[in-house]
Amino acid sequence: MKAVRYHQYGDSDVLRYEEVDRPTPGAGQVLVRVAGTAFNPADGAIRAGYLQDPFPLRFPHTPGYDMAGTVAETGPGVEGFRIGEPVVGFLPMNEHGAAAEFVLAPAEVLTAAPSGVDLADAAAIPSAALTAWQALFEHAKLQPGQRILINGAGGSVGGLAVQLAAQAGAVVIATASPRSIDKVRSYGADEVIDYTTTSVQDGQKPVDVILNLAPLDTAQQAALLDHVRPGGVLVTTVPPGPEDARAITMFVRNDVEQLATLVKKVDAGELRINVSERYPLADLAQVHELSDAGKLPGKVVLTPGS
Ligand SMILES: NC(=O)c1ccc[n+]([C@@H]2O[C@H](COP(=O)([O-])OP(=O)(O)OC[C@H]3O[C@@H](n4cnc5c(N)ncnc54)[C@H](OP(=O)(O)O)[C@@H]3O)[C@@H](O)[C@H]2O)c1
Repeated sequence: MKAVRYHQYGDSDVLRYEEVDRPTPGAGQVLVRVAGTAFNPADGAIRAGYLQDPFPLRFPHTPGYDMAGTVAETGPGVEGFRIGEPVVGFLPMNEHGAAAEFVLAPAEVLTAAPSGVDLADAAAIPSAALTAWQALFEHAKLQPGQRILINGAGGSVGGLAVQLAAQAGAVVIATASPRSIDKVRSYGADEVIDYTTTSVQDGQKPVDVILNLAPLDTAQQAALLDHVRPGGVLVTTVPPGPEDARAITMFVRNDVEQLATLVKKVDAGELRINVSERYPLADLAQVHELSDAGKLPGKVVLTPGS
């Protein structure tokens, strides 16, 4: 089968599209024929070697932890899946990923894919939706009527967080650049601040919750705390966050039941995903290069065999 792998940490040119053996599922594993894998900013950071502590790799490594596809084969002891069934999953980040025609997944990370969106695009759901959900409801403990500022709402996690926060009855203030303003508003933001012209601090009264998804350094994130009301909280997905009792730096965890709930929301039309572009899997190095240069057009899904 074809897969993209890298044999060492480095720039995007370490990624190679090559022929590898198709894996065989062991006990508890499912072999999935990949329909799509979504690119995430962390894929670039892992490849560059910045995340070796939390996610040590064995080389050669196939990236792509967000996956959608169909069940091709099941290993010993796996029950409850039928061949051809469409599934999505958030794969373990330091195991071989879905930038390949087939991937091995632990059965317990898979759940049914949504039926209402293209299967390849469903790869954009797992880690982004879990991050948005956990940030809002596990870490910030967002309540109806609270005011939340979502900084970096124009991205993948942000778009989902805006929708979930608005549906939870929060007042949502979002930051976005011109390319994303209409989209963020359509997701239910009550107010959108163009961060390219206006500081979030300008003219805003303090909020109960700030969710930071923007690529800010620690000092810039600490400055956001001035905008949190007493008793409020800043949740950030961008480490290192501020060392402050009001600040939580979160790391997404896999929770297949939560993922199943989020998939149902997609099918019910309550949660929209926004895939900007699809690339053939063979072009993954180009996607990493665009991301490193800050030039990705938005959420990108890679599809094998295209
Ligand atoms: N800790 C975790 O577990 C975890 C999990 C998931 C993601 N993350 C991290 O969370 C961040 C967001 O993830 P993502 O997948 O949503 O990334 P993404 O799709 O690349 O979105 C990031 C967005 O940030 C916006 N942005 C850029 N500079 C900004 C600024 N100065 N102020 C406000 N907004 C700005 C851009 O929106 P516009 O289009 O409006 O310009 C961009 O689309 C990434 O750093 C990612 O690595 C961490």
